[in-house]
Amino acid sequence: MARTKPLVGIVMGSTSDWDVMSNAAKQLKEFGIPYEARALSAHRSPDALVEWIESSEKHGVRCFIAAAGGAAHLAGVVASKTTLPVLGVPMPSKYLQGMDSLLSMVQMPKGIPVATFAIGEAGAANAALFVVAMLALGDVAMARKLEEFRERQTKAVLSAKLPE
Ligand code: RP5
Repeated sequence: MARTKPLVGIVMGSTSDWDVMSNAAKQLKEFGIPYEARALSAHRSPDALVEWIESSEKHGVRCFIAAAGGAAHLAGVVASKTTLPVLGVPMPSKYLQGMDSLLSMVQMPKGIPVATFAIGEAGAANAALFVVAMLALGDVAMARKLEEFRERQTKAVLSAKLPE
């Protein structure tokens, strides 16, 4: 069976980020969006990172989700090597609980933007939902799926019972 070409490149600085970033992958899967996920570091494997960005672009990826923790420069480096949208997810870090990751990522100097999401699981899932919204701009079926997702979410909130 032919493999579906990824539309989204998910990259994280370390395999230790996968627990959190699997939330982005899961969300994309739910919407039937093909992705490729890799652990590639901006400082530990910079050449491999750049090669992957270039090859992803060549093979039709439409945007990147980049996750890193600590001095989180990965998303900025990805953004420096592509003009595709880069969505950044700050990872919770051991000593500063992800505040370091958030501030590193969100404070990109003017000219090379990284759309930065919340620290951790919510940010990972929301980055994927943002990708859905971007793809839905040119895809009526995807737009409908997103509306249905929102409707289900609203129903779940309205039907939730508080514990006795
Ligand atoms: C960052 O350093 C990674 O994105 C990860 O969040 C953090 C810790 O990496 P490991 O030491 O667990 O590989 O580059």
